[in-house]
Amino acid sequence: MDWFQTVVLSTVLSASWSAEDLTFPPGFMFGAATAAYQVEGAWNVSDKGESAWDRYTHEHPEKIKDHSNGDIACDSYHLWRRDIEMAVELGLHFYRFSISWPRLLPSGYPNYISEDGKNYYSNLIDGLLEKGIEPFVTMYHWDLPQSLQDLGGWTNPLVADWFYDYARVVFTLYGDRVKWWLTINEPLVMCDFVYNNGILAPPIMSPELGAYLCSKNVLVAHAKAWRLYDEEFRPKYNGKVSVANHHVWFDPLTPDDAELAELAREDCVGKYTHPIFSTTGGWPPSIEKVMEEVSLKRGYKSSSLPAFTPEEIALVRGTYDFYAMNHYTSRLIRKAKEGETFTAWPLGDAVDLGGIVQRRADWPLSTSFWFYVYPEGIRRQLVWLRKQYGNLEFVITENGLSTYAGLDDQDRIDYYKNYLRQILLAIKEDGVNVTGYTAWTLMDNFEWMDGYATKLGLYEVDYLDPQRKRTPRASARFYADLIKKHALDS
Ligand code: NOJ
Repeated sequence: MDWFQTVVLSTVLSASWSAEDLTFPPGFMFGAATAAYQVEGAWNVSDKGESAWDRYTHEHPEKIKDHSNGDIACDSYHLWRRDIEMAVELGLHFYRFSISWPRLLPSGYPNYISEDGKNYYSNLIDGLLEKGIEPFVTMYHWDLPQSLQDLGGWTNPLVADWFYDYARVVFTLYGDRVKWWLTINEPLVMCDFVYNNGILAPPIMSPELGAYLCSKNVLVAHAKAWRLYDEEFRPKYNGKVSVANHHVWFDPLTPDDAELAELAREDCVGKYTHPIFSTTGGWPPSIEKVMEEVSLKRGYKSSSLPAFTPEEIALVRGTYDFYAMNHYTSRLIRKAKEGETFTAWPLGDAVDLGGIVQRRADWPLSTSFWFYVYPEGIRRQLVWLRKQYGNLEFVITENGLSTYAGLDDQDRIDYYKNYLRQILLAIKEDGVNVTGYTAWTLMDNFEWMDGYATKLGLYEVDYLDPQRKRTPRASARFYADLIKKHALDS
């Protein structure tokens, strides 16, 4: 079946659904997410260390659309009680937030643990649990201690040990209360996007080296943290640990482009999943091959993709307890014609893969330059992952729409409805084992290079108000209602 038939089929299927079919399976969990740098503010309060994002936004305000930064953001460092109230208002089963490494370990190293940092996360976790909401914790969402960035950050292989040491502190402090863990958020963005474009922190352009070193080191760091949990903490606490990947779905423009689309999926997703979730481990063979060819063409003697040793392959393989999927958007891909120029995102090696990515004309734009709306993409992505790695437990760890919305955000409601409907189809028609869904995001926040200019929140945040007043949007009421009914209305 080609993509067009599938689209038609899924539209027909969804149109003929009865009310009962719109119910989520029993036990399906709903949550919402944020990340430390995007909401906490308090960038230099108490003994917090500087992060690579503090440095980046302070030194390069011109790189952020509205020249803003996360110095205050939503001030969740002080307003965490209100954040918990919002989670209660929505009826969330879990709240996904991240720990700021430099807030907990100001030097980046566990030779000193900040009392205030430690208590901040402890209070947040306890506050959620008191209300019956599961804390779902991301250990790293891009705010590397600047001290470690100065030593090469994610391109230095030692980062895997730095992360391992940090992970031990985090598991020791909070492992008794946190059952859901994500080690690292979106390796694709923090490696490929950063080093291929020289934007986002750190502003280092190193497409032929940095991106690949980073990819490998991230995988090893994740694996070391997972094994640490597995060996020392799981026996006591019995939680689940995974890594949250970014997924862009690729449809071929024509049947002729099918092979290229598959290569793009492997480059965008497989690079970070094959080493962990496949039975063989290591880089996806198709990417290994293409990288070798590309590197030789560039005049190198061997591939720029750093090889895994057999020990590293074994170390990384199998380091998951569930599959965490961030998904927002899709692309059409086609073969490049002679002399065509490329926009690389979201592919690290779009030039080398010989593909041109584009939007399908009927996919609505969001207000983020990188994403379009194509609800079927999430279903197709889930089915692809199941085919590649088996019917794992899948949790959607991010999904949402960026708009310039005010409070009446019908477009966001439609986005959620349409994507959730496709997730239901994946569960009910395709048998994919999806057990949870996370709305990005609980409230408007610092949207990286877009600053505060674009909004993704269920709650609007008033940045002119020193108290950072949070007001529910129509989408918050929609989400609360959905959670209560455990079903979509239509
Ligand atoms: C993915 C990132 O994890 C998150 O930080 C970001 O705000 C959303 N996508 C929306 O762009």
